[in-house]
Amino acid sequence: MNEQELRRAAWNSLKSVPYPGEERSIVALGLVERIDVEDRRVTVRLRVGHLPAEVQEEVIQRAQQALAALPDDIIVRVEPAPPTPPAQRVTTESARPPGVARVLAVGSGKGGVGKSSVAVNLAVALAQRGYRVGLLDADVYGPNTPRMLGVAELPPRRQRGRIPPAEAYGVRFISVGFMVKPDQAVVWRGPMTDKLVRQFLADVEWGELDLLVVDLPPGTGDVAIALTRHARPDGALLVTTPQAVAWDDVLKAAAMFRRLGVPVVGYVENMAYFECPNCGARTDLFPRRPEAEAQEEGLECLARLPFDPAVVRGSDEGKPAAADPTSPAGQAFRELAERVAERLGVPRF
Ligand SMILES: Nc1ncnc2c1ncn2[C@@H]1O[C@H](COP(=O)(O)OP(=O)(O)O)[C@@H](O)[C@H]1O
Ligand SMILES: [Mg+2]
Repeated sequence: MNEQELRRAAWNSLKSVPYPGEERSIVALGLVERIDVEDRRVTVRLRVGHLPAEVQEEVIQRAQQALAALPDDIIVRVEPAPPTPPAQRVTTESARPPGVARVLAVGSGKGGVGKSSVAVNLAVALAQRGYRVGLLDADVYGPNTPRMLGVAELPPRRQRGRIPPAEAYGVRFISVGFMVKPDQAVVWRGPMTDKLVRQFLADVEWGELDLLVVDLPPGTGDVAIALTRHARPDGALLVTTPQAVAWDDVLKAAAMFRRLGVPVVGYVENMAYFECPNCGARTDLFPRRPEAEAQEEGLECLARLPFDPAVVRGSDEGKPAAADPTSPAGQAFRELAERVAERLGVPRF
């Protein structure tokens, strides 16, 4: 086995290691930070620092057992990943509303890859499955959710009351788009975004939610840091197109979330193929990216979404494709929703 094959084999072994007391694997839970291979040595770093000591030990032991399946001449080391640097640690009081069971950040390195489309349709698909879902549109540069969900204004606020969220397709949501007029130019500085994110968490009447989906602006910046400080997301979902340039940026976003201590639940390959409405044949729109490459980075593909004109129409008209039973993307969004709910352990009621 060469180094790449070894890494892949190690990765596959770890995928079968269940987290103690759970069905989900330590890979699915984002505990595998990295796998390094040098000569015949495999070093696995596990993100276990936040777990109780017994659980840490158990996870490490289980990983070691699974890796014993590698060839005999391989030296395996499993160790805890170094703790998050102090500057990144959450120091402020959490603004996460007590009624919100899970928080999912939807991020990407690049703009225009379909992050908002995925966030909106994922939220709608989950709501249709019966989950209580919120959507926090924190994209200060391009707040698209009001248009995508067909709502122009927030409901009236009671005097001195908290902010009532808008609601559409069973999704409660808030957006910078409700606060800033489309032609108004706002320069968002770090402290402002921090305050805004905190306010969107703490001052909005979210009520009881099984999951709050957060649409982040592209890149690796202030908003993601603010969200981590104030809400401690349970996971991050990355969105990319299958192009190499978009993928490079996704790796950066993944590295950022890991630094912030947010497990990456997986990624979505958006606009991956087109399905002919007449004959059903599928055409890849980009050269197909080998999944093994992603796995080596510790990233799992949770969905390949088709390019579907219904997504564009749906966004422009405020009728999300996920609510349209006939659109191919709608079906794909529903499957994605199932997977995300499973990965995050979103409670069912
Ligand atoms: N699966 C898809 N099929 C067709 N068009 C899509 C799909 N996903 C996104 N789009 C379109 O691509 C453009 C960018 O999507 P958007 O969600 O705004 O990206 P981002 O939030 O990453 O900037 C929009 O015009 C959107 O309608
Ligand atoms: Mg967007």
